[in-house]
Amino acid sequence: MIDRYVSPAEFKRLVSALLVVLGFIALAALFGFIVVPGLRYQAQAAPDTPVQGARGQTGWLDPTDFPVTRKQVIPPIDPKTVMTPNPELLARGKALYAQICATCHGAEGKGDGPAAKGLNPKPRNFTEPAGWKNGARLEDIYKTLDEGIKGSAMMAYKDLRRKDRMALVHVVQSLGAFDHGPSDPQAQEALAKSFASAGEVIPNRIPVREAIDKLSQEYQSAPALTATDPFLRDYVLDARKAAQTLAGIPGWEANDEALAAGITATLPGNGFAPAVATCTPTRWTQLRLALARK
Ligand code: HEC
Repeated sequence: MIDRYVSPAEFKRLVSALLVVLGFIALAALFGFIVVPGLRYQAQAAPDTPVQGARGQTGWLDPTDFPVTRKQVIPPIDPKTVMTPNPELLARGKALYAQICATCHGAEGKGDGPAAKGLNPKPRNFTEPAGWKNGARLEDIYKTLDEGIKGSAMMAYKDLRRKDRMALVHVVQSLGAFDHGPSDPQAQEALAKSFASAGEVIPNRIPVREAIDKLSQEYQSAPALTATDPFLRDYVLDARKAAQTLAGIPGWEANDEALAAGITATLPGNGFAPAVATCTPTRWTQLRLALARK
């Protein structure tokens, strides 16, 4: 039918031309739907969490403990925005410096902060060109913040975001009015590449004290409860965890109040059903006897 209008050779040519056009459209669609949004995601600057002083939200005994925070995924950073100082970065760096570093390194970076007295080796004096162990170049200071200095009070600041670490690098350099040396172009490029290529994942965090409690509970090896008693089945969700919880409550076998306080304090997630919180005193006695029988 179609060969009435075009010769077979012409038809073949038309079909291959059509295929090429379709191929281009498919590529353009791929680019538009996958590559462009990816690039846009990458170019989006992550919002900075404001620098705040220690707040007593968690554990009023230790207001510097981590507050509970959810896991965060931070997209890659555009190296242009962090490799050279800019006013916004410096302002953020100064706030962080005052909050974290000044206790040891001093407000002006002379290594004379209030916490410096008892330290050996002494915190670095950022106004002096001599004595830097890792060096004072951009990549050197970044390395110091990344790894810390072994055998000294200078710890690794890995929990700071990379952008914040770079902000601090610029602040440390700005405190010393000497030539910090030309950066090694290769090292600088590697650093820039690492910023641009991958985002950061900040895991869920819980206060240190809570983590220690959890760990010590998990390590107390208590035999799992065997919840065959129908009464226990109502209140015990996870027999192993419940047994560990019990192991952490001294004297619960003989004391309803101790049992009730110990169990409700660690709800939920301690192996007991949240419904235990509504038990009446008689119920607690029953529960205690049922648990003691196991
Ligand atoms: C607990 C005290 C303490 C705190 C807080 C502290 N440092 Fe240090 N820092 C030190 C000590 C001590 C040294 C010297 C280590 C040595 O000489 O071995 C040092 C050294 C350094 C050096 C020089 C490394 C080198 O090459 O010799 C840099 C840079 C530095 N600290 C940056 C910082 C920054 C930025 C912060 C804040 C995020 C900070 N420090 C917080 C104690 C501290």
